[in-house]
Amino acid sequence: MNAATLAHTQAPALSSVLSPPLAHEDSRTRSANQSFPHSIASDAPPAPKSPGRCTLQRAQVVLCSGCCCGRTDKNRPGVPLDELKALWKLEKLGTTVQLSISGCLGPCAMANVAMLIFPDQTLWLGPLTHDIDYAVLAGWAIACRDAGSLSPLPLLLQRLVFQRFSLSPA
Ligand code: FES
Repeated sequence: MNAATLAHTQAPALSSVLSPPLAHEDSRTRSANQSFPHSIASDAPPAPKSPGRCTLQRAQVVLCSGCCCGRTDKNRPGVPLDELKALWKLEKLGTTVQLSISGCLGPCAMANVAMLIFPDQTLWLGPLTHDIDYAVLAGWAIACRDAGSLSPLPLLLQRLVFQRFSLSPA
């Protein structure tokens, strides 16, 4: 079963996927009258935070959802954001490949675009015009999760890599 089929057959109701409880307390909303323990308020350097699952992640996919990418009302191809988010959650792909959605990344003329961030480089993909492009992207993320490491980028995605910035002088 390919990733696109999986997303359609096994994804939970979107309302349950996209409406997580918002009951957690944000430290920025903490009452100004609430004092911190002395050990935190002192000049002692803070204890290092655990990077948690971040250390297990190997890459990040940033999908553009700005002024042009995914804007079907501007005759641009759609971006199946809901399906991808549901699939990422269902398959726990975020343990290996972080999925992020961004505002305009800049190269609107290439819409739809995505950025792949690796430890040693960043790749730009575009134009992503068909559902198969996203299905292959999700399939690659599943392969990375299964391997626990970066899998080779599928040929279809390699063909979508473009040079974001010119190396030659203006
Ligand atoms: S909206 Fe995607 S690059 Fe501008």
